[in-house]
Amino acid sequence: MPTLLLGTKNAGKIREIRALLADLQLELLTWQECPFPEIAEDGLSCQENALKKARQISAKTGLAVLADDAGLEVAALGGAPGVLSARYSGAPAGEERDEQNIAKLLQNLAGVTDRLARFVCVMVLHWPEGRELIATGELRGRIAERPRGQNGFGYDPVFIPENYRRTLGELGPAVKNSISHRRRALEQLKAALKSGA
Ligand code: IMP
Repeated sequence: MPTLLLGTKNAGKIREIRALLADLQLELLTWQECPFPEIAEDGLSCQENALKKARQISAKTGLAVLADDAGLEVAALGGAPGVLSARYSGAPAGEERDEQNIAKLLQNLAGVTDRLARFVCVMVLHWPEGRELIATGELRGRIAERPRGQNGFGYDPVFIPENYRRTLGELGPAVKNSISHRRRALEQLKAALKSGA
């Protein structure tokens, strides 16, 4: 069975990617079974950061690695927070920043009626011998007036997907995993994963 290491320490992402790959015959490893150092996300784009994480973690561990970098782009804010989504309210980035990031976003959108936004995810699959695949997924939607729901992570409590009235925080994992930017990126990589990561 092929082995794949997930190049993230974010518990929310690990939960989602595990569910999205559950139908494949893969031995999925995380940083808990195969520790790797923190990789600085200092690239100018999500693609740069995802490539950096996948390449460096693969070089350190000798394993095939799946890494993603995602960002929230808000039209009325000129595409911000974008690649800075994780540290929008300051550094260091981390799940404990989620609430502050949401607070800053809502503050910057106070009184703004155009709340269109999208999540973008760049997913990189890197094999130790150098082979590499890149895929991008997008989820369009809008920013809610206030946080709603406890599901998911990051900006999920304030993101209402296109064609829905509830936030990802309210909709829960089954709905999110059926439409998410992460799912859409991963769908494109699944054929390669099936044939031998
Ligand atoms: P990164 O991909 O770990 O750099 O994440 C960038 C930022 O976007 C972090 O603040 C995440 O919490 C947030 N983020 C990434 N993916 C999602 C998502 O699926 N839902 C909500 N927030 C997300």
